[in-house]
Amino acid sequence: MTAEVGVIGTGVMGSNLARNLARNLTGRTGARVAIYDRDIDRARALAADHHEADFLVASSPADLASKLSGPRVAILMVNAGPATDSAIGDLLQVFEPGDIIVDGGNSLFTDTIARGENAAKAGIEFVGVGISGGEVGALEGPSMMVGGTESAWSRLRPILEPIAAHAEPIAARAEPIAARAEPGDGRSAQADPESCIAHVGTDGAGHFVKMIHNGIEYADMQLIAEAFALLRSRLGLTPPEIAEVFREWNRGDLESYLIEITAEVLDHTDAATGEPFVDIIADSAGAKGTGGWTVKTGLDLGVPVATIAEAVSARSLSAASVLRSSGAALVGPSTVTSALEEARESALEEARESALDDAPTSAPVDRDTVIETVRKALFTGKILAYVQGFHEIAAGAQEHGWNTELGEVARIWRAGCIIRARFLDRITEAFDADPNLSSLLAAPYFRDSLNSGQQALRDTVADAASSGVPIPALASALSYFDGIRTSRASAALVQGQRDFFGSHTYGRTDRPGTFHTLWSGDRSEVQL
Ligand code: 6PG
Repeated sequence: MTAEVGVIGTGVMGSNLARNLARNLTGRTGARVAIYDRDIDRARALAADHHEADFLVASSPADLASKLSGPRVAILMVNAGPATDSAIGDLLQVFEPGDIIVDGGNSLFTDTIARGENAAKAGIEFVGVGISGGEVGALEGPSMMVGGTESAWSRLRPILEPIAAHAEPIAARAEPIAARAEPGDGRSAQADPESCIAHVGTDGAGHFVKMIHNGIEYADMQLIAEAFALLRSRLGLTPPEIAEVFREWNRGDLESYLIEITAEVLDHTDAATGEPFVDIIADSAGAKGTGGWTVKTGLDLGVPVATIAEAVSARSLSAASVLRSSGAALVGPSTVTSALEEARESALEEARESALDDAPTSAPVDRDTVIETVRKALFTGKILAYVQGFHEIAAGAQEHGWNTELGEVARIWRAGCIIRARFLDRITEAFDADPNLSSLLAAPYFRDSLNSGQQALRDTVADAASSGVPIPALASALSYFDGIRTSRASAALVQGQRDFFGSHTYGRTDRPGTFHTLWSGDRSEVQL
């Protein structure tokens, strides 16, 4: 008895993916799934706990190879890094030319490119597949971003497409976003436009796109956390009250899995203390690295991803306990009256004195206005984070020669993955309307949304700055917005400085060419 596919690594993600595969393959074709784990007891326990999956348990990489029908397909679901290298090394010993090794972990895309080159020397295909959706997604239907060759994709597609999430057609959407991680249902492996899997380019493209997905995920989460902090500090709302606000937001443009789970977390009460759960979680956020990779890669590509970078830095800052304890002695706006505030106060005082009646000197804070302003600011910031992420995908595809279709990426992120959102429908529509769209900014929906949301973002950032609430992602999104819309950037001065100290040259606004001013000489200009 042979198996159609093997899964290596039976941790939570590997187990769930193997069960998803078994449910679909066994039900559809009668084919079986082999599992292997260096901890053989763990693999055996999985098979024992899930008789319905009818797993074939392999006792070694060689045993796994003997249990797989050719050309063999094995999916690695092990930790990124050394564990992945070690598992690949094992398989290269026992696999034959034409066999396929799939890495379903969160590997760095440059590692995937190098591993592919190495496997190719043995005639073995190596395919990096970005898998998003967490534990539930792995079991019920993840979003999958596939790299590797076209021929490997042809072999993998009938295996992977049925287990991917399936999004509803855009026009037919009525259900809440979190309900959309539909299990694979054994439908045909022919082109299925609603299946959340795509071949996004060769070699490391799958892991590259997954990396950007995670970068956007970091930004999305940080922006939501900042909105929470603002509602709490400016309006004094309790976590359950803010949960209700998020639930309301989830009925509109912001509808997304992350907004939905945020409401769940905020509404949760800690059993031990009776306090809101969010108040007993240590405020130090972890990170496994994919957000940082997005930022480093953006820097390498020369793509500004400031909002994603701020989201990564915010997690680093939250975990920098020594820095934060020294910062505890710093004063905030409530104890320092700024010159601006003093001027405003004295103007108000004068107005009060000269007023004939006792008109109020400042408008009361209107709860609904603040909530609506923060909602719009969050939505605007979210659009800008996606603009950055899609810019980086386009630049990465160009750099590496991948034929990555941005509309296809938006399409497969519509269900199954962590950043799934109603918003992805709008991105898909924008690329459907113009497959060559140079940037999301060029799409009317996004341009109009940014233009109508920018004032709320501005007001929110200004209010947070004057009240001392840290909102790095929102603030960077605003600076990014102003940076891309400005017609005359301050970079002209930077070019002048560079030319002064390093003869780095500059272009001119009035004629083409490359120029240098003889700063240490007579300051005349030379054309190079
Ligand atoms: C997903 C997630 C998943 C995981 C990341 C984030 O798409 O399913 O992005 O890959 O949650 O590893 O991890 P960190 O927040 O720990 O970096």
